[in-house]
Amino acid sequence: MDEYRKIADIIKERGYTVAFTGAGISVDSGIPAFRGGQGLWEKYDPMEYAHIRAFNSNPEKVWVMLHEMSGVILDAKPSPAHTALGELEKKGFLKAVITQNVDGLHQAAGNSNVIEYHGSHRWFICLSCSKRVPLTHDVVDLHPYPICEKCNRALKPDVVFFGESIPMEAIIKANEEAQRCKVMLIIGTSGVVYPAAEIPHISKSAGAIIVEINPEQTPFTSSITDYFLKGTASAVLPNILAYLK
Ligand code: APR
Ligand code: ZN
Repeated sequence: MDEYRKIADIIKERGYTVAFTGAGISVDSGIPAFRGGQGLWEKYDPMEYAHIRAFNSNPEKVWVMLHEMSGVILDAKPSPAHTALGELEKKGFLKAVITQNVDGLHQAAGNSNVIEYHGSHRWFICLSCSKRVPLTHDVVDLHPYPICEKCNRALKPDVVFFGESIPMEAIIKANEEAQRCKVMLIIGTSGVVYPAAEIPHISKSAGAIIVEINPEQTPFTSSITDYFLKGTASAVLPNILAYLK
């Protein structure tokens, strides 16, 4: 039987699907992933550019990468994969998206229950007074970086840097959805960053069927994945959706 039809039948029968997404789903939106060939971490050492200690000690250097990331995110549009997940929610099958991504593209594609486990690059915050400003071209075009006038310090994207903790609300909501779901779609993640990578294991232990979509195998594939669909998210998801019309 066509594997896409098989997965569509499982989604239909089991009723409560949650997606767990990583950078791979946004590659087709022009946002580079972190690891592998063209990964961002091949160009910028995450310990020097994405650790909270680096941000506090040398914001100007970290903002070199942040300017690049902000520009790419500002211009990015949802991929066919994001759009398919928006459709899946509209049809009542997809109940939540737990994403490690900070690009806001799931919301742009129409998903309403999006848990941003690593925060959002669509907002900047001041670490002293918690003032928040939205990501816009004029904020990003400020050099060497945008500052909080009140505290006179560099603004930071509202994302979880290495060395920072995951927002408590995201942990609680993600765990609830992971426990509740009957099907978990793992899409475009290398599954090497914790505590995020714990989430599919929670679903597996709660009896969910695990479907993984990725051109490459990951640590999930040989441990908890029930169905591995080799391919890009933008090629696979619309084919599954086609059977859920
Ligand atoms: N469709 C689906 N998957 C893809 C595609 C695609 N078009 N292109 C690449 N991939 C897969 C890669 O094979 C890889 O397994 O997406 C995954 C991307 O892995 P990472 O770059 O490690 O991204 P991610 O898993 O989201 O990283 C997790 O690490 O650096 C931190 O905070 C950052 O949220 C990020 C976290
Ligand atoms: Zn401030």
